[in-house]
Amino acid sequence: MMTCAFPIDSVRAQFPGLQREVAGRPAIFFDGPAGSQTPRRVVEAVSDYLLHRNANHGGPFATSQESDAMLAEAHRALADFVGAERSEEVSFGANMTTLTFALSRALARTWQAGDEIIVSRLDHDANVSPWELAARDVGAVVKQIGVRPDDCTLDLDSLRSSLGERTRLVAVGAASNLAGTINPVQEIAELAHAAGAQLFVDAVHLAPHRLIDVGLWDCDYLVCSPYKFFGPHIGVLWGRSEWMAELPAYKVGAADEVIPDRWMTGTQCHEAIAGTLEAVNYLADLGRSVDGNSLDRRGALRAAFRAIEAYESSLCRELLEGVARIAAARVVGITDLKRLEERAPTIAILAEGCSPVALSEELGKRGVFSWGGNCYALPLTEALGLEPGGVLRVGLLHYNTAEEVGRFLDLLPKCMAAVS
Ligand SMILES: Cc1ncc(COP(=O)(O)O)c(C=O)c1O
Repeated sequence: MMTCAFPIDSVRAQFPGLQREVAGRPAIFFDGPAGSQTPRRVVEAVSDYLLHRNANHGGPFATSQESDAMLAEAHRALADFVGAERSEEVSFGANMTTLTFALSRALARTWQAGDEIIVSRLDHDANVSPWELAARDVGAVVKQIGVRPDDCTLDLDSLRSSLGERTRLVAVGAASNLAGTINPVQEIAELAHAAGAQLFVDAVHLAPHRLIDVGLWDCDYLVCSPYKFFGPHIGVLWGRSEWMAELPAYKVGAADEVIPDRWMTGTQCHEAIAGTLEAVNYLADLGRSVDGNSLDRRGALRAAFRAIEAYESSLCRELLEGVARIAAARVVGITDLKRLEERAPTIAILAEGCSPVALSEELGKRGVFSWGGNCYALPLTEALGLEPGGVLRVGLLHYNTAEEVGRFLDLLPKCMAAVS
Protein backbone atom coordinates (compact mmCIF):
# COMPACT_ATOMS: atom_id res chain seq x y z
CA MET A 1 0.00 0.00 0.00
CA MET A 2 1.43 3.40 -0.94
CA THR A 3 0.50 6.69 0.67
CA CYS A 4 1.24 10.07 -0.88
CA ALA A 5 0.72 13.75 -0.07
CA PHE A 6 -2.75 15.18 -0.48
CA PRO A 7 -3.34 15.80 -4.21
CA ILE A 8 -4.74 19.31 -3.81
CA ASP A 9 -3.96 20.47 -7.36
CA SER A 10 -5.74 17.57 -9.01
CA VAL A 11 -8.65 17.93 -6.55
CA ARG A 12 -9.10 21.62 -7.37
CA ALA A 13 -8.82 21.01 -11.11
CA GLN A 14 -11.94 18.85 -10.86
CA PHE A 15 -14.11 21.67 -9.43
CA PRO A 16 -14.84 24.23 -12.18
CA GLY A 17 -16.74 26.43 -9.71
CA LEU A 18 -13.51 27.19 -7.83
CA GLN A 19 -12.28 29.21 -10.77
CA ARG A 20 -14.66 32.05 -10.01
CA GLU A 21 -13.06 35.43 -9.38
CA VAL A 22 -14.19 38.40 -7.30
CA ALA A 23 -12.57 41.77 -8.04
CA GLY A 24 -9.87 40.11 -10.13
CA ARG A 25 -8.79 37.56 -7.50
CA PRO A 26 -9.82 33.90 -7.05
CA ALA A 27 -12.85 33.57 -4.78
CA ILE A 28 -12.36 31.69 -1.51
CA PHE A 29 -15.13 29.18 -0.87
CA PHE A 30 -15.40 28.96 2.91
CA ASP A 31 -19.16 28.42 2.63
CA GLY A 32 -18.99 24.60 2.47
CA PRO A 33 -21.16 23.98 5.57
CA ALA A 34 -24.07 25.49 3.64
CA GLY A 35 -23.26 23.55 0.46
CA SER A 36 -20.13 22.38 -1.32
CA GLN A 37 -18.95 22.98 -4.87
CA THR A 38 -19.38 20.15 -7.36
CA PRO A 39 -16.82 18.23 -9.43
CA ARG A 40 -17.29 18.31 -13.20
CA ARG A 41 -17.92 14.54 -13.30
CA VAL A 42 -20.94 14.96 -11.00
CA VAL A 43 -22.39 17.64 -13.29
CA GLU A 44 -21.75 15.35 -16.27
CA ALA A 45 -23.48 12.43 -14.56
CA VAL A 46 -26.56 14.61 -13.99
CA SER A 47 -26.68 15.74 -17.62
CA ASP A 48 -25.85 12.25 -18.92
CA TYR A 49 -28.87 10.93 -17.04
CA LEU A 50 -31.20 13.58 -18.43
CA LEU A 51 -29.84 13.27 -21.97
CA HIS A 52 -29.63 9.49 -22.27
CA ARG A 53 -31.50 7.58 -19.54
CA ASN A 54 -34.33 9.84 -18.50
CA ALA A 55 -37.29 7.58 -17.59
CA ASN A 56 -39.65 6.61 -14.83
CA HIS A 57 -39.10 3.59 -12.62
CA GLY A 58 -40.08 0.03 -13.63
CA GLY A 59 -40.76 0.35 -17.38
CA PRO A 60 -40.17 -2.59 -19.78
CA PHE A 61 -37.88 -0.60 -22.09
CA ALA A 62 -34.25 0.43 -22.39
CA THR A 63 -34.20 3.89 -20.78
CA SER A 64 -36.21 2.76 -17.77
CA GLN A 65 -34.07 -0.36 -17.35
CA GLU A 66 -30.87 1.70 -17.49
CA SER A 67 -32.37 4.23 -15.10
CA ASP A 68 -33.30 1.46 -12.65
CA ALA A 69 -29.81 -0.03 -12.91
CA MET A 70 -28.37 3.40 -12.03
CA LEU A 71 -30.78 3.69 -9.07
CA ALA A 72 -29.76 0.26 -7.75
CA GLU A 73 -26.08 1.20 -8.03
CA ALA A 74 -26.75 4.51 -6.25
CA HIS A 75 -28.33 2.64 -3.33
CA ARG A 76 -25.24 0.40 -3.17
CA ALA A 77 -22.93 3.43 -3.32
CA LEU A 78 -24.73 5.19 -0.49
CA ALA A 79 -24.74 1.99 1.56
CA ASP A 80 -20.94 1.97 1.08
CA PHE A 81 -20.84 5.66 1.99
CA VAL A 82 -22.60 5.19 5.33
CA GLY A 83 -21.11 1.76 6.09
CA ALA A 84 -24.35 -0.24 5.74
CA GLU A 85 -24.53 -3.87 4.65
CA ARG A 86 -27.89 -3.62 2.88
CA SER A 87 -28.53 -1.21 0.02
CA GLU A 88 -32.32 -1.29 0.55
CA GLU A 89 -31.75 0.42 3.91
CA VAL A 90 -30.91 3.61 1.95
CA SER A 91 -33.71 5.95 0.85
CA PHE A 92 -33.39 9.13 -1.19
CA GLY A 93 -35.62 12.17 -0.73
CA ALA A 94 -35.84 15.91 -1.25
CA ASN A 95 -33.39 16.86 1.52
CA MET A 96 -32.51 15.95 5.10
CA THR A 97 -35.26 18.11 6.60
CA THR A 98 -38.07 16.58 4.54
CA LEU A 99 -36.84 13.02 5.19
CA THR A 100 -36.60 13.74 8.91
CA PHE A 101 -40.15 15.08 8.98
CA ALA A 102 -41.35 11.89 7.21
CA LEU A 103 -39.52 9.63 9.65
CA SER A 104 -40.58 11.66 12.69
CA ARG A 105 -44.27 11.39 11.72
CA ALA A 106 -43.96 7.64 11.26
CA LEU A 107 -42.11 7.18 14.55
CA ALA A 108 -44.59 9.36 16.41
CA ARG A 109 -47.35 6.90 15.44
CA THR A 110 -45.53 4.39 17.68
CA TRP A 111 -45.20 6.81 20.64
CA GLN A 112 -47.66 7.49 23.43
CA ALA A 113 -48.48 10.46 25.61
CA GLY A 114 -45.80 10.76 28.29
CA ASP A 115 -43.09 9.07 26.20
CA GLU A 116 -39.86 11.04 26.06
CA ILE A 117 -37.67 12.26 23.18
CA ILE A 118 -34.21 13.77 23.66
CA VAL A 119 -32.71 16.38 21.30
CA SER A 120 -29.57 18.48 21.75
CA ARG A 121 -28.69 22.16 22.06
CA LEU A 122 -25.76 21.66 19.69
CA ASP A 123 -27.91 20.70 16.72
CA HIS A 124 -29.18 22.30 13.56
CA ASP A 125 -32.87 23.06 13.91
CA ALA A 126 -33.70 20.43 11.25
CA ASN A 127 -32.80 17.84 13.90
CA VAL A 128 -34.85 19.55 16.60
CA SER A 129 -38.13 20.96 15.22
CA PRO A 130 -39.30 17.75 13.48
CA TRP A 131 -38.98 15.88 16.79
CA GLU A 132 -40.61 18.67 18.82
CA LEU A 133 -43.57 18.81 16.42
CA ALA A 134 -43.97 15.03 16.28
CA ALA A 135 -43.80 14.84 20.07
CA ARG A 136 -46.42 17.58 20.37
CA ASP A 137 -48.78 15.62 18.09
CA VAL A 138 -48.87 12.69 20.53
CA GLY A 139 -48.24 14.42 23.87
CA ALA A 140 -44.65 13.16 24.23
CA VAL A 141 -42.17 15.14 26.31
CA VAL A 142 -39.02 16.68 24.76
CA LYS A 143 -35.81 16.95 26.78
CA GLN A 144 -32.52 18.56 25.76
CA ILE A 145 -28.87 17.50 26.03
CA GLY A 146 -26.94 20.55 27.23
CA VAL A 147 -23.75 22.04 25.78
CA ARG A 148 -20.56 22.96 27.61
CA PRO A 149 -20.08 26.64 26.72
CA ASP A 150 -16.27 26.61 27.08
CA ASP A 151 -15.68 24.26 24.13
CA CYS A 152 -19.13 23.62 22.60
CA THR A 153 -19.10 19.90 23.36
CA LEU A 154 -22.17 17.95 24.41
CA ASP A 155 -22.72 17.55 28.13
CA LEU A 156 -23.18 13.77 28.25
CA ASP A 157 -24.04 13.93 31.95
CA SER A 158 -27.17 15.81 30.99
CA LEU A 159 -27.94 13.02 28.50
CA ARG A 160 -27.41 10.38 31.22
CA SER A 161 -29.72 12.19 33.59
CA SER A 162 -32.39 12.71 30.91
CA LEU A 163 -32.54 9.07 29.78
CA GLY A 164 -35.18 6.94 31.44
CA GLU A 165 -37.57 4.09 30.84
CA ARG A 166 -39.95 6.36 28.89
CA THR A 167 -37.22 7.57 26.47
CA ARG A 168 -38.08 6.41 22.96
CA LEU A 169 -35.59 8.32 20.83
CA VAL A 170 -32.38 10.33 21.09
CA ALA A 171 -31.78 12.64 18.09
CA VAL A 172 -28.28 14.01 17.86
CA GLY A 173 -25.91 15.46 15.27
CA ALA A 174 -22.66 13.73 14.33
CA ALA A 175 -21.04 17.18 14.10
CA SER A 176 -22.09 20.77 14.78
CA ASN A 177 -22.62 22.90 11.68
CA LEU A 178 -21.76 26.03 13.71
CA ALA A 179 -18.87 25.16 16.04
CA GLY A 180 -17.53 22.11 14.21
CA THR A 181 -17.65 19.82 17.28
CA ILE A 182 -17.65 16.11 16.42
CA ASN A 183 -19.86 14.20 18.83
CA PRO A 184 -19.07 10.76 20.35
CA VAL A 185 -21.90 9.04 18.48
CA GLN A 186 -20.88 5.52 19.46
CA GLU A 187 -20.94 6.39 23.16
CA ILE A 188 -24.30 8.12 22.74
CA ALA A 189 -25.68 5.01 20.99
CA GLU A 190 -24.56 2.84 23.91
CA LEU A 191 -26.26 5.16 26.40
CA ALA A 192 -29.47 5.39 24.36
CA HIS A 193 -29.69 1.64 23.76
CA ALA A 194 -28.96 0.82 27.41
CA ALA A 195 -32.08 2.84 28.23
CA GLY A 196 -34.10 1.05 25.53
CA ALA A 197 -34.22 4.11 23.23
CA GLN A 198 -33.35 4.41 19.53
CA LEU A 199 -30.71 6.77 18.12
CA PHE A 200 -31.25 9.08 15.14
CA VAL A 201 -28.06 10.73 13.81
CA ASP A 202 -27.89 13.88 11.69
CA ALA A 203 -24.63 13.34 9.79
CA VAL A 204 -25.17 16.27 7.40
CA HIS A 205 -22.26 18.30 8.72
CA LEU A 206 -19.88 15.40 9.32
CA ALA A 207 -20.33 13.77 5.89
CA PRO A 208 -17.69 15.72 3.89
CA HIS A 209 -15.12 15.46 6.69
CA ARG A 210 -15.14 11.95 8.18
CA LEU A 211 -16.13 8.41 7.28
CA ILE A 212 -19.68 7.63 8.41
CA ASP A 213 -19.99 4.16 9.94
CA VAL A 214 -23.50 3.13 10.94
CA GLY A 215 -22.23 -0.37 11.78
CA LEU A 216 -19.55 0.83 14.17
CA TRP A 217 -21.69 3.58 15.64
CA ASP A 218 -24.65 1.21 16.08
CA CYS A 219 -27.22 3.93 15.42
CA ASP A 220 -30.76 3.18 14.24
CA TYR A 221 -31.30 5.94 11.67
CA LEU A 222 -28.99 8.41 9.94
CA VAL A 223 -29.47 11.26 7.50
CA CYS A 224 -27.07 13.18 5.29
CA SER A 225 -27.29 15.63 2.38
CA PRO A 226 -25.22 14.98 -0.78
CA TYR A 227 -25.10 18.70 -1.63
CA LYS A 228 -22.76 19.07 1.36
CA PHE A 229 -20.44 16.34 0.07
CA PHE A 230 -19.94 17.41 -3.54
CA GLY A 231 -23.21 16.07 -4.95
CA PRO A 232 -26.51 17.64 -6.06
CA HIS A 233 -29.32 19.02 -3.88
CA ILE A 234 -30.97 15.89 -2.45
CA GLY A 235 -31.19 14.05 0.90
CA VAL A 236 -30.39 10.51 2.07
CA LEU A 237 -31.95 8.52 4.91
CA TRP A 238 -30.51 5.25 6.19
CA GLY A 239 -32.46 3.13 8.67
CA ARG A 240 -32.08 -0.37 10.04
CA SER A 241 -34.16 -2.66 7.83
CA GLU A 242 -36.13 -4.09 10.76
CA TRP A 243 -37.41 -0.60 11.64
CA MET A 244 -37.78 0.70 8.10
CA ALA A 245 -39.84 -2.33 7.04
CA GLU A 246 -42.22 -2.05 9.97
CA LEU A 247 -42.69 1.61 10.89
CA PRO A 248 -46.07 2.97 9.80
CA ALA A 249 -44.75 5.23 7.02
CA TYR A 250 -47.01 7.86 5.49
CA LYS A 251 -47.29 6.59 1.93
CA VAL A 252 -49.66 6.31 -0.99
CA GLY A 253 -51.94 3.29 -0.46
CA ALA A 254 -51.21 1.65 -3.80
CA ALA A 255 -47.43 1.97 -3.41
CA ASP A 256 -45.20 -1.01 -2.66
CA GLU A 257 -44.74 -2.06 0.96
CA VAL A 258 -41.09 -3.06 0.44
CA ILE A 259 -38.10 -0.99 1.53
CA PRO A 260 -36.89 1.43 0.37
CA ASP A 261 -39.94 2.12 -1.83
CA ARG A 262 -42.28 2.67 1.11
CA TRP A 263 -40.08 5.64 2.14
CA MET A 264 -39.32 7.02 -1.33
CA THR A 265 -42.71 8.56 -1.96
CA GLY A 266 -43.59 9.81 -5.46
CA THR A 267 -41.16 10.05 -8.35
CA GLN A 268 -37.63 10.77 -7.23
CA CYS A 269 -35.16 13.29 -8.64
CA HIS A 270 -33.33 10.60 -10.64
CA GLU A 271 -30.79 13.02 -12.08
CA ALA A 272 -29.78 14.11 -8.57
CA ILE A 273 -29.47 10.47 -7.54
CA ALA A 274 -27.20 9.90 -10.57
CA GLY A 275 -25.10 12.87 -9.43
CA THR A 276 -24.99 11.54 -5.87
CA LEU A 277 -23.70 8.18 -7.08
CA GLU A 278 -20.96 10.04 -8.95
CA ALA A 279 -20.09 12.16 -5.90
CA VAL A 280 -19.49 8.98 -3.88
CA ASN A 281 -17.40 7.57 -6.73
CA TYR A 282 -15.45 10.85 -6.89
CA LEU A 283 -14.55 10.45 -3.20
CA ALA A 284 -13.69 6.76 -3.69
CA ASP A 285 -11.39 7.64 -6.59
CA LEU A 286 -9.74 10.27 -4.41
CA GLY A 287 -9.09 7.50 -1.88
CA ARG A 288 -7.65 5.24 -4.57
CA SER A 289 -5.42 8.07 -5.80
CA VAL A 290 -3.79 8.37 -2.38
CA ASP A 291 -3.90 4.78 -1.23
CA GLY A 292 -3.96 2.30 -4.11
CA ASN A 293 -6.12 1.51 -7.11
CA SER A 294 -7.27 -1.93 -6.02
CA LEU A 295 -9.41 -0.77 -3.08
CA ASP A 296 -13.11 -1.62 -3.15
CA ARG A 297 -15.47 1.34 -2.78
CA ARG A 298 -15.79 1.22 1.01
CA GLY A 299 -12.04 0.74 1.41
CA ALA A 300 -11.40 3.60 -1.00
CA LEU A 301 -13.80 5.87 0.93
CA ARG A 302 -11.97 4.97 4.13
CA ALA A 303 -8.67 5.97 2.47
CA ALA A 304 -10.21 9.20 1.12
CA PHE A 305 -11.45 10.29 4.52
CA ARG A 306 -8.14 9.43 6.18
CA ALA A 307 -6.43 11.74 3.69
CA ILE A 308 -9.14 14.42 3.95
CA GLU A 309 -8.97 14.44 7.75
CA ALA A 310 -5.18 14.83 7.79
CA TYR A 311 -5.25 17.60 5.17
CA GLU A 312 -8.19 19.50 6.67
CA SER A 313 -6.67 19.27 10.16
CA SER A 314 -3.53 21.00 8.94
CA LEU A 315 -5.64 23.86 7.50
CA CYS A 316 -7.74 23.99 10.65
CA ARG A 317 -4.61 24.29 12.78
CA GLU A 318 -3.37 27.25 10.70
CA LEU A 319 -6.76 28.92 10.88
CA LEU A 320 -7.07 28.50 14.65
CA GLU A 321 -3.50 29.69 15.24
CA GLY A 322 -4.07 32.68 12.95
CA VAL A 323 -7.34 33.80 14.57
CA ALA A 324 -5.67 33.46 18.01
CA ARG A 325 -3.12 36.07 16.87
CA ILE A 326 -5.88 38.63 16.13
CA ALA A 327 -6.44 40.43 19.43
CA ALA A 328 -10.10 41.39 18.91
CA ALA A 329 -11.21 38.02 17.51
CA ARG A 330 -11.89 34.71 19.22
CA VAL A 331 -13.09 31.25 18.27
CA VAL A 332 -16.18 29.72 19.84
CA GLY A 333 -15.64 25.95 20.21
CA ILE A 334 -12.63 23.66 20.46
CA THR A 335 -9.41 25.66 20.10
CA ASP A 336 -6.95 23.23 21.73
CA LEU A 337 -4.67 22.15 18.88
CA LYS A 338 -4.21 18.76 20.55
CA ARG A 339 -7.94 18.10 20.11
CA LEU A 340 -8.27 18.66 16.37
CA GLU A 341 -9.64 15.14 15.83
CA GLU A 342 -12.67 16.22 17.88
CA ARG A 343 -13.65 18.94 15.43
CA ALA A 344 -14.37 19.59 11.78
CA PRO A 345 -12.62 22.60 10.17
CA THR A 346 -15.76 24.69 10.69
CA ILE A 347 -14.82 27.71 12.75
CA ALA A 348 -17.21 30.04 14.57
CA ILE A 349 -15.58 33.44 15.09
CA LEU A 350 -16.59 36.39 17.25
CA ALA A 351 -15.00 39.73 16.45
CA GLU A 352 -15.31 42.49 19.06
CA GLY A 353 -17.65 45.28 18.01
CA CYS A 354 -18.51 43.64 14.67
CA SER A 355 -21.83 42.25 13.55
CA PRO A 356 -21.18 38.74 12.16
CA VAL A 357 -23.57 39.39 9.27
CA ALA A 358 -21.84 42.68 8.39
CA LEU A 359 -18.46 40.99 8.64
CA SER A 360 -19.55 38.18 6.34
CA GLU A 361 -20.88 40.76 3.84
CA GLU A 362 -17.61 42.65 3.93
CA LEU A 363 -15.63 39.44 3.39
CA GLY A 364 -17.98 38.55 0.53
CA LYS A 365 -17.20 41.83 -1.23
CA ARG A 366 -13.52 40.89 -1.02
CA GLY A 367 -14.09 37.40 -2.38
CA VAL A 368 -14.31 35.30 0.80
CA PHE A 369 -17.59 33.38 0.97
CA SER A 370 -18.69 32.78 4.56
CA TRP A 371 -21.86 33.04 6.66
CA GLY A 372 -22.88 35.28 9.54
CA GLY A 373 -25.68 34.60 12.06
CA ASN A 374 -26.90 31.43 13.78
CA CYS A 375 -26.82 29.16 10.71
CA TYR A 376 -30.00 27.46 12.05
CA ALA A 377 -28.10 26.36 15.17
CA LEU A 378 -30.26 28.71 17.21
CA PRO A 379 -30.39 26.58 20.41
CA LEU A 380 -26.58 26.79 20.49
CA THR A 381 -26.24 30.52 19.84
CA GLU A 382 -28.95 31.10 22.48
CA ALA A 383 -27.19 28.82 24.98
CA LEU A 384 -23.97 30.77 24.40
CA GLY A 385 -25.73 34.13 24.80
CA LEU A 386 -24.92 35.11 21.23
CA GLU A 387 -28.37 36.21 20.15
CA PRO A 388 -29.07 38.43 18.36
CA GLY A 389 -26.09 38.27 16.06
CA GLY A 390 -24.66 34.75 16.12
CA VAL A 391 -21.14 34.19 14.79
CA LEU A 392 -19.06 34.48 11.64
CA ARG A 393 -18.79 30.94 10.30
CA VAL A 394 -15.94 29.91 8.04
CA GLY A 395 -16.08 26.31 6.92
CA LEU A 396 -13.25 24.58 5.08
CA LEU A 397 -13.44 21.58 2.78
CA HIS A 398 -10.74 19.43 1.20
CA TYR A 399 -10.58 21.70 -1.86
CA ASN A 400 -9.46 24.70 0.22
CA THR A 401 -5.79 25.61 0.58
CA ALA A 402 -3.27 27.01 3.06
CA GLU A 403 -2.87 29.99 0.74
CA GLU A 404 -6.61 30.73 1.10
CA VAL A 405 -6.35 30.46 4.89
CA GLY A 406 -3.47 32.96 4.77
CA ARG A 407 -5.45 35.39 2.59
CA PHE A 408 -8.44 35.13 4.91
CA LEU A 409 -6.29 35.82 7.99
CA ASP A 410 -4.87 38.86 6.25
CA LEU A 411 -8.33 40.14 5.27
CA LEU A 412 -10.14 39.47 8.55
CA PRO A 413 -8.65 42.38 10.57
CA LYS A 414 -9.18 44.72 7.60
CA CYS A 415 -12.83 43.70 7.33
CA MET A 416 -13.24 44.01 11.11
CA ALA A 417 -11.90 47.57 10.92
CA ALA A 418 -14.26 48.33 8.00
CA VAL A 419 -17.44 47.23 9.83
CA SER A 420 -16.75 48.13 13.48
C1 LIG B 1 -26.13 19.88 10.46
C2 LIG B 1 -27.27 20.09 9.49
N1 LIG B 1 -28.38 19.35 9.62
C3 LIG B 1 -29.40 19.49 8.77
C4 LIG B 1 -29.38 20.41 7.75
C5 LIG B 1 -30.54 20.50 6.83
O1 LIG B 1 -30.24 19.80 5.66
P1 LIG B 1 -31.15 19.89 4.35
O2 LIG B 1 -30.87 21.21 3.72
O3 LIG B 1 -30.70 18.73 3.51
O4 LIG B 1 -32.56 19.75 4.78
C6 LIG B 1 -28.25 21.21 7.58
C7 LIG B 1 -28.21 22.24 6.52
O5 LIG B 1 -27.45 23.17 6.57
C8 LIG B 1 -27.16 21.05 8.48
O6 LIG B 1 -26.04 21.78 8.37
